[in-house]
Amino acid sequence: MFYTIIGTQWGDEGKGKIVDWLASKVDTVVRFQGGNNAGHTIQINESKYKLNLLPSGIIRGKKCIIGNGVVLDPWALVDEIVKLKKQNIEISDHNLMIAENTCLILPIHKIIDEINEIERGNAGIGTTKKGIGPAYEDKVGRRSIRLCDLANEDILKRKISSLVKFHSPRLTFYNKKVDAEDLYKQLSLVAKKILPYSYPTWQYLNKLAKKNKNILFEGAQGALLDIDFGTYPYVTSSNTSSGQIFAGSGFNTRTNNKILGITKAYTTRVGSGPFPTELNDQIGDHLVEKGQEYGTVTKRKRRCGWFDINLVKQSINISGINNIVLTKLDVLDHLNEIKLCIGYQFENIQYSYLPANENLQFNVKPIYKTYPGWKESTFGLNNWDDLPLNAKKYVNSIEELLETEISIVSTGPERSQTIDRKKFLDNI
Ligand code: GDP
Ligand code: IMO
Ligand code: MG
Repeated sequence: MFYTIIGTQWGDEGKGKIVDWLASKVDTVVRFQGGNNAGHTIQINESKYKLNLLPSGIIRGKKCIIGNGVVLDPWALVDEIVKLKKQNIEISDHNLMIAENTCLILPIHKIIDEINEIERGNAGIGTTKKGIGPAYEDKVGRRSIRLCDLANEDILKRKISSLVKFHSPRLTFYNKKVDAEDLYKQLSLVAKKILPYSYPTWQYLNKLAKKNKNILFEGAQGALLDIDFGTYPYVTSSNTSSGQIFAGSGFNTRTNNKILGITKAYTTRVGSGPFPTELNDQIGDHLVEKGQEYGTVTKRKRRCGWFDINLVKQSINISGINNIVLTKLDVLDHLNEIKLCIGYQFENIQYSYLPANENLQFNVKPIYKTYPGWKESTFGLNNWDDLPLNAKKYVNSIEELLETEISIVSTGPERSQTIDRKKFLDNI
């Protein structure tokens, strides 16, 4: 079997927690897109682990793969490995493999990310400034330096020289300089540390599938940040939907898949862009504090709003999601009333999806259905029957409106704070 974790909103839905929870039952965990713009937090008792590039299965000592669809900042990876080793997590070429055809993020990409944001002015995306977009641009521009290039001095020197030549005019305009010789030296040093992980991982994965092993694909970001289907241009530069698994890892099995949509019980977004159900009021502030909605990567305050059925339904449809994991239900505890957005209206026209047009995305008005809150704590509950009646009603309404089973409900950051409503884990 293979399992996929997809964020159905704008990221930070709690994917890391759920990957870790499921990882006890799988053999291998694979990242297939994005880069160190991701921030996946796992809490185990008093210890917190923050992962940016490494698949979350590393915490349970599982075999982990960084697939070719990822853009890899080699220095960030080395730092992350050092940091996790200090937290007593074992990482070696026995449990970590990186696709040899992975494209690298270089210091030049971070500089260009900054410049791009400056040039966008008021229409800035609010990127993580990790160089993600510029690195993907070089990938499709066929200029990238790939992991395998680090093993060949001549190829590496040639590629660095043409990459620096390509970007120089713009960098010079901004008084920034990248020296090819210096970049070569830096890459040669880091090469020694990361080449041992380099592998034709597509082969390894397809062999595992033949042996009927359980493989878990860990999505980063969320469906509304997808370069094609998200709130373009306020998106990330990769496909975050499930279709990317195959191109981003070389995995070939299209059957036996369970695709889990990780969905927050409300909505959050970091960075700029449309957000129809955003709450710029006391309830929004309350959700930020109660949910500790501060970005893992950039520490920015996350924008908060009500649950949006339209958005999640769209994500379910595009990614073929067949199970929903509803997270952070506990954050809604003690509210007087809770709203669900069940559609949008713009100039007498109703929409049951988010139209692609930017003007509509910014200006549609949510149509709300109001539910009574529950005045009790659900924090840490792991039994469906123990939930307050109004919490059950809220979850059941979401399930009905999404027309997709909510198999798992999360009520806290820890592994044990999980309601496995349909015995999902037992059936793996
Ligand atoms: P990811 O990017 O999707 O992996 O999510 P993040 O890790 O960026 O953000 C989710 C945050 O919520 C993390 O700090 C988690 O520890 C925490 N979290 C996950 N599930 C729950 C939950 O059910 N309740 C609460 N209160 N916190 C949760
Ligand atoms: P996880 O995996 C939330 C957002 C950024 C910005 C936009 C583009 O933790 O859910 P980028 O640096 O990718 O070019 O920025 O995407 N963004 C995320 N928001 N969670 C993430 O990852 C994100 N990764 C990128 O804030 O708005
Ligand atoms: Mg995150």
